[in-house]
Amino acid sequence: MSTPAPVEDWSTDWDHHAPEWVADPWPIWDELRTGCPIAHTDRYNEGVWLPTRHEDLSTIAHDTTVFSSGHSGATIGGTKQRAKFPPIHLDPPEHMDVRRELLPFFNPKRVMAWEPVVEEHCEKLARELTKRDVVDLASDYAAHIPAAVIAMILGIPPSDGDRFRKWIHALELGDLDTDMRDVALGEMSAYFGAVINERRADPRDDLISYLLDIEIDGERFDDETLQRILILQLIAGIDTTWGVLGASLLHLAKTSADRERLVADPSLIPNAIEEFLRAFASVSLWRTVTEPVEIGGVEMAEGDTVMMVFPAACRDPEMFEDADKVIIDRERNRHVAFGAGIHRCLGSNLARLELNVGIRTWLAHAPDFELVADANVTWAEGAIRGPRSVPVRIIH
Ligand code: HEM
Repeated sequence: MSTPAPVEDWSTDWDHHAPEWVADPWPIWDELRTGCPIAHTDRYNEGVWLPTRHEDLSTIAHDTTVFSSGHSGATIGGTKQRAKFPPIHLDPPEHMDVRRELLPFFNPKRVMAWEPVVEEHCEKLARELTKRDVVDLASDYAAHIPAAVIAMILGIPPSDGDRFRKWIHALELGDLDTDMRDVALGEMSAYFGAVINERRADPRDDLISYLLDIEIDGERFDDETLQRILILQLIAGIDTTWGVLGASLLHLAKTSADRERLVADPSLIPNAIEEFLRAFASVSLWRTVTEPVEIGGVEMAEGDTVMMVFPAACRDPEMFEDADKVIIDRERNRHVAFGAGIHRCLGSNLARLELNVGIRTWLAHAPDFELVADANVTWAEGAIRGPRSVPVRIIH
């Protein structure tokens, strides 16, 4: 994997793997939003656009005819024909056929039924970790919540978490190293292929068994489609939630006033979580242009790729007052951390549950903590953002 050349001009040569972007993309996006506002790079595919204003991102997200989701990202060396992971890479009408079948598994009532299990898992983790003086809130705590929860819902062993995180790391760097990404996808397909066979022989009350019985127009999913649906379910909920949870805890480690308010009054946590989702939104995704179109003053051509950097839209001052400030009791907060339009996050109820329980439980066990002196906070690189190391000292 080669090291990317330094970026000299973010408006014509941006790179989501550049160290400055990985460490702190907000000033870059702020500058582009006011000066550009749709940036471009030739580093990936045959060129990728980067809209940074809420208005442009929202227009694109709602226009599924001109902006197709049938593309799974960017790579160096050109657009590659790649497998689609339903429903995120499907356009209408096929998209809704799959999404409709998954929705019942992620509706508020069904998700709330998971609360005691998520609570038990977070309690156990927090109880063990708070016996120590120094803990890494990203790698010791936040990383272990979403992987275990989605494993329970899918009906696969939560103890396979390390394997899931290894695959996710390979996908994050997949734009730069397609071989590594393809090996990870191959391993994931084989993993789910084996589980599908087990469930066919011995059904259980889990998402995999449920999907085996689904029929669309009288036809069941073939094994390959099932594997791809399950791969998406596994990866869509892990680093996304881990990223927001880790960034929220990092904020609380650095901002004692907010931490003390949430400890004193945990009923503020749900509102604070909406603000953390907005301010630390973790997910950017991709679209492919299907016909020539003019947007935000630029002409896009058929076949161009667009990076949907929802986190930049979440800090657009046209949409949010004091957009760069974290205001845990913010009243008007119509953020797009979960996207917009037909692909809006299917797991948003689950993500909110995990964030609520994860933060509430940590604060109950460790009301006082701070970043260790000279802490080296590191971040995931690529399209999904979040801290990978947040070393804190617990004040007992
Ligand atoms: C804080 C955590 C999360 C964030 C910020 C997030 C963000 C997003 C965003 C921005 C999209 C829109 C994609 C697009 O427009 O192309 C999306 C879609 C999706 N998310 Fe999430 N997500 C999170 C957690 C989860 C969880 C926990 C799950 C489930 C296990 C999940 C499953 C999905 C699925 C299946 C889609 C595709 C929906 C469709 O195409 O109809 N996400 N997510």
